[in-house]
Amino acid sequence: MTDRTRTVTPVFDPLTGPLVPVTADGTEWVVVVEHDTAVARACPHQDADMARGSLMGRAVKCPLHGFLFDSRTGRGMNCRFTIATRPAALLDGRWHVDGVPADVTP
Ligand code: FES
Repeated sequence: MTDRTRTVTPVFDPLTGPLVPVTADGTEWVVVVEHDTAVARACPHQDADMARGSLMGRAVKCPLHGFLFDSRTGRGMNCRFTIATRPAALLDGRWHVDGVPADVTP
């Protein structure tokens, strides 16, 4: 018999959009829903809020100066900066960052 169940990760959170700000173990992250990863909430350039940024393919774009960061590696794509990244997963309706349960933050 074939198991027809499977886990589907949404590419867009209907409440927050493609970038979900969360806090996990006291650290602020932004979950990139489409890529099952999280980037640091503060931009490494001048601390802009990456939750107010946008997603362009695999890149997260900072809202302040437009620097692009690869959402999987954190490497700057048009700058010399690197942003911290961690794996993210939606488990039982709750985001986890690097295996740590996270709370959605405003
Ligand atoms: S604060 Fe993010 S690019 Fe300048």
